[in-house]
Amino acid sequence: MQYGHFDDKNKEYVITTPQTPLPWINYLGNDSYFSLISNTAGGYSFYRDARLRRITRYRYNNVPYDQGGRYLYLRNNANGQVWSSSWQPVKKDLNHYTCRHGLGYTRISSDYQGIHAHTIYFVPLQANCEIWRTTLKNDTQAPVDLSLFSLVEFCLWDALDDSTNYQRNFNIGEVEVEGSVIYHTTEYRERRDHFAYFACSEPLTGFDTDRNAFLDNYHGFENPQVVQTGKSNQSIAHGWAPIASHHLQFALNPQEEKEIIFVLGYFENPREQKFDSNHPFQINKQFVSPRIQHYLQPSVLDAAFDDLARFWQEILEQYQVTTPDQDTNRMVNIWNAYQCMTTFNLSRSASYFESGIGRGMGFRDSNQDLLGFVQMVPAKARERLIDLAATQLPNGGAYHQYQPLTKRGNDAVGGNFNDDPLWLILAVAAYLKETGDHSILKELVPYDNQADTETALFEHLQRAFSYTLDRLGPHGLPLIGRADWNDCLNLNCFSLTPGESFQTTENKAGGVAESVFIAGLFILAGHEMEKIAQITLETQYAQQVRQHVKDMQEAVLTHGWDGAWFRRAYDYFGDVLGSQQNPEGKIFIEPQGICVMADVGLENSYALKAMDSVNAWLNSVHGVMLVQPAFTRYDPKYGEITSYPPGYKENASVFCHTNPWVMIAETRLGRGNQAFDYYKRINPSTRESISDVHRCEPYVYAQTIAGKDAPTQGEAKNSWLTGTAAWNYVAITQFILGIRPDYDGLVIDPCIPADWPSFTATRKIRNATYHIQVHNPHHHQSGVKTMLVDGKPHPIGTPIPYYEDGHTHHIEVWLG
Ligand code: GLC
Ligand code: GLC
Repeated sequence: MQYGHFDDKNKEYVITTPQTPLPWINYLGNDSYFSLISNTAGGYSFYRDARLRRITRYRYNNVPYDQGGRYLYLRNNANGQVWSSSWQPVKKDLNHYTCRHGLGYTRISSDYQGIHAHTIYFVPLQANCEIWRTTLKNDTQAPVDLSLFSLVEFCLWDALDDSTNYQRNFNIGEVEVEGSVIYHTTEYRERRDHFAYFACSEPLTGFDTDRNAFLDNYHGFENPQVVQTGKSNQSIAHGWAPIASHHLQFALNPQEEKEIIFVLGYFENPREQKFDSNHPFQINKQFVSPRIQHYLQPSVLDAAFDDLARFWQEILEQYQVTTPDQDTNRMVNIWNAYQCMTTFNLSRSASYFESGIGRGMGFRDSNQDLLGFVQMVPAKARERLIDLAATQLPNGGAYHQYQPLTKRGNDAVGGNFNDDPLWLILAVAAYLKETGDHSILKELVPYDNQADTETALFEHLQRAFSYTLDRLGPHGLPLIGRADWNDCLNLNCFSLTPGESFQTTENKAGGVAESVFIAGLFILAGHEMEKIAQITLETQYAQQVRQHVKDMQEAVLTHGWDGAWFRRAYDYFGDVLGSQQNPEGKIFIEPQGICVMADVGLENSYALKAMDSVNAWLNSVHGVMLVQPAFTRYDPKYGEITSYPPGYKENASVFCHTNPWVMIAETRLGRGNQAFDYYKRINPSTRESISDVHRCEPYVYAQTIAGKDAPTQGEAKNSWLTGTAAWNYVAITQFILGIRPDYDGLVIDPCIPADWPSFTATRKIRNATYHIQVHNPHHHQSGVKTMLVDGKPHPIGTPIPYYEDGHTHHIEVWLG
């Protein structure tokens, strides 16, 4: 069953019923002001840091779903009928409802008793505010007397404190009202120089800023007293819960339309000039007023909206494709790229599953997110790489997370996730291939953000590489530390205390737990490291790298091979995991994917066998599961992975992040049918028709889909903020479609389903456009036979040069 449809032409997903299985959301904003908005206008906004600068309040895990949002109440003053133009919170049956989630904007429209309402929500580029632009139209034959009430509920800045520290919070709430602008000024009297505002383009009939005055005791958002009676109170919040509600009352003649603009924003004053010189303790509005007036002008908003559309047009133009498969086209051309922008911006901080108070930016997460983002805004990717490297420790290790506001490593989670540092090498490699900007390798970057510790970025990479070599176990495989990519495989934790953190607890010291996954990652990163060393003319170092990579390959082939697949790990006691010998946890996806991606076992039959075992053991209708058999009981030797019920999360769900690794691995074997088959199983657009099973949004990837051991098999959870976005983008664009930037040119090496007769693509890179036509008349899965570049034969196996000439080049490729 479906709850909407794709509008590919307009790059929108159109939701046609408000009652989706879960709220289906969109993100507004790319720079510093961010909003999450659901299909019924739920969600919240924040400035830069979802925890420390939360602007509006949201209630996670509430009933009914999705409480707190950007509400507009309408009231027909003749008959007292009340409704919400976005359905929530009043939930009146609307005569018509649609929500169109687009790129950086959401439009919600509805009809009720002849009143048409349409609101477009967006955040202008580089602005610290969001716009709600509403049009109301009277489609009846008679004049109507309407009231419109807006509503946002302010969060008292620190979202964690806001939802826990009531002994303080109920005393500190403050607001100011001037004209049609309501200011939220809590804690402004003391150390904050920032405030929020909610402005309206029209003169007000009234307003409210005190939640209780607006709702009345024991009323919810669905039936505020003020809306029911049609009379606002002009309340001023003193403590308790500050809100902002504008009340407008006006008449509309038949067919008459009225536009009303709301601007919700964040503003920082200079500390010395934060107060109004005439009114101590009132905010100085000298700087903010012109900004507010600016965004209340329709012509400014028209231009801002056009800018937003142009911005996305240019971003998406970097890679466009036309294949015989519609799900592929719309994900590559629109939604997967869009999701990559969101994961790059927000890491794992704020979604409808990540509450924005828990995590900082993950070191490994952000490095991987960059793989799907680097072609969009390379300059931002560069800045991110430097930020990440600056949190690296002098021994090459990494804090697992850092805080976006301070850019400092986060002590609460600490380090010793032994895979972390290696991801930096892959991310820098992706940046170099995309841009050719070798200067980044010479950039001086500190360790742990300490002054006077700066070295060239290249040395950061060397230290990251050595970090693994300095921590090898008895089989010559990397020690796992707290965990590797799989945060929940905690081989040194041994926790028996409820609630103890698996990620930070170590109850036994001196173990020898090793990870085959890190070994594979080390080899993959080592291939890049060797090439990067050649770029910097460190040829001796390049040779050393090559030797270390060879040694690691040997270790994997000797101690990491189980007979039909790659083993997962050796535990604290040196016993194997991910082996025929284990009754549960016999085979894991991660080492199969990463080792074959790193070309381990391509020369003997191991790679092929491993991938066949993945298909035999881990594949399911809904995607490839992380492990089989699932763990049925808690085992302190293995940690959190065994804490989940079978079929969920790391314990044998389809953990989507890992699926593209096996897709890429299949392309290393030339098996386009299989690679694409895996791609389609988790492609959200393919799954649109089973939205009642999948439940999450059909336009973005979710972190997990319940595996075959789960009673709710096929149900997705944790949509939006997942490394799945970047890796699927890489798998489809670079390995299945096979258009892949390399250090010295663009590689075109498709590995596609045999039944595709052809496809075309446009790739913009390094100031040139490549228009690519791939022909597959004899239905092969891979293998380029002939290539023409601007009409001339091009040697197979040689990348196409980076022309950097501002021109379009025509590439024709025949498989055979
Ligand atoms: C989550 C984490 C990521 C980790 C994965 C597997 O997605 O953000 O860092 O690799 O889970 O445990
Ligand atoms: C939880 C999640 C896992 C995540 C980890 C780190 O264990 O299940 O996916 O990676 O937390 O935050």
